[in-house]
Amino acid sequence: MQDKNYKFETLAVHAGQNADKETGAIVEPIYMTSTFAFTEDKMERWIAGTPKEGEIIYTYGRSRNPTQISLQKKLAALEKAEASLVTSSGMAAITLAILGYCKQGDHIISAQTVYGGTYGLLKNILPDMGINVTFVKSLTTESLEAAKRNNTKLVYFETVANPTLEIPEFDEIVGWAKKNSIKTVVDNTFTSPYLFRPVEWGIDTVVHSCTKYINGHGDVIGGAVVGKKEFCEGLRQKQYMDIGPVPAPINCYMMIRGLKTLHLRMERHCQNAKIFAERMSRHPKIEKVMYPGLENNEYYQHALKYFDGFGGMVSLVVKGGINEAKKVCFGLEIGKFAVSLGDLDTLVEIPAIMTHKDVPKEEREKMGIDDGMIRVSVGVENVEDLIADFEQALERI
Ligand SMILES: Cc1ncc(COP(=O)(O)O)c(C=O)c1O
Repeated sequence: MQDKNYKFETLAVHAGQNADKETGAIVEPIYMTSTFAFTEDKMERWIAGTPKEGEIIYTYGRSRNPTQISLQKKLAALEKAEASLVTSSGMAAITLAILGYCKQGDHIISAQTVYGGTYGLLKNILPDMGINVTFVKSLTTESLEAAKRNNTKLVYFETVANPTLEIPEFDEIVGWAKKNSIKTVVDNTFTSPYLFRPVEWGIDTVVHSCTKYINGHGDVIGGAVVGKKEFCEGLRQKQYMDIGPVPAPINCYMMIRGLKTLHLRMERHCQNAKIFAERMSRHPKIEKVMYPGLENNEYYQHALKYFDGFGGMVSLVVKGGINEAKKVCFGLEIGKFAVSLGDLDTLVEIPAIMTHKDVPKEEREKMGIDDGMIRVSVGVENVEDLIADFEQALERI
C-alpha cells in the first residue's frame, strides 16, 4: 500500500497492515515470540549488515518484532513522518528521545508546564546525569534567547500543556531553534496525529504516550518516538537495545486496533468536549474553564492555526479549592476519578494531588495549576448525560 497517498481515515485503517500471505487473514497474527531463528544465509547478511532490499532481519524481541513494525508503520503514516519507534510507555519514549539528543554536559530548555512525570525526569533525573534544564513559562523568541546557553541542544514542550491547556506558537519556537541549530521535541499526546502533525510544521521529533488517545481504550501502557528514519533507527540500535523499553507484541496489537478508530473517537471527543466546556463555563460554581475551543480562550487562535479540532481535554477550576474539587470528583457517577486520559470513559483528576503532586506547590503555581483545578478527559458517552452527571456532583459544593 502506498501509505502516504491516502487520507487520514484510510491510513488509520490500512497503513502498516500486512494481510497474512499464507491464510489471507486480514488481521495480522500477533507475533508472540521473544526470539527468531536464523537461517545460514540470513545470518551472513545480518553479520555483514547487508539485508536484501526491504528485508528486516529479526533477531530478538527486545530489538524488534513484526507486530511492532506494523504499528510503527501505521503511526508514522498518520504523523506524516518518516519513521517511528514504539516503547513500553510514554515516559520511556520521552526518555529515549531526550537521550537521543543529549549527553552529559548538555542543556535543555523546557516549557514550564509539562506532565508531572516529564517534570520529574527533567528536574530530578537528567540533572543527576549532568544534563541541565531551564524551565521557561512561555516559549517565545525572547524567552528562548534569554534561556539559551552555549551547550543548549534541545527545546522540549507539549502541543497542549498538561493540565493548563496552553498552546505554544510552534512557528516561533521552530524558527528560533532552526536558526540556532537546536533540536525540538514535542509531546503530541493531547492532540494525537488526528488533530496535529508536528513534523509538518518543522518540529524534529514527536513523542507520545500511546496509553492515551492512540490506544484509546484504557487497557494498554505504551509510547512512541516519531520523526526522521535516521533518528529512530539510531535510537533503536543504541539506547533501545541497551536500555530495553520494548512494548509486548500483544500491546502493539492493541495499539494497532486502537489506531484504526482514532479518527472516529477524536471527532466525538472534540464534539463532546466543546459542548461540555461551553456549559461548564456558564455554571455558577465554576470559577474558570480552560478549553482552547472557547472563543475567549487565550489559545483559541493558536488552536485554529495549527489543529484540526480543539481536543477532548477540558480543565475546570471549581470555587472553593481542593476540598470542593474532591467532593465534585467523588460525586460523579459516569466520570471516573482516575489519572490518565484519552479513554472512551470520561476521566477526572485533580493535578495538585495526582498527576502533578510531586511538583512542589510553588512550581505548580508557576505552571498555573490551581489547587482547585479538575482536569477532565471528556469521553465518548452521551454529552447530556455527562453534563447532568457534573451538574449533580457540583450540587455537593
Ligand atoms: C502529556 C503526557 N505525556 C506523557 C505521559 C506519560 O505517559 P505514560 O503514562 O504512558 O508513561 C503522560 C501521562 O499521563 C502525559 O499526560
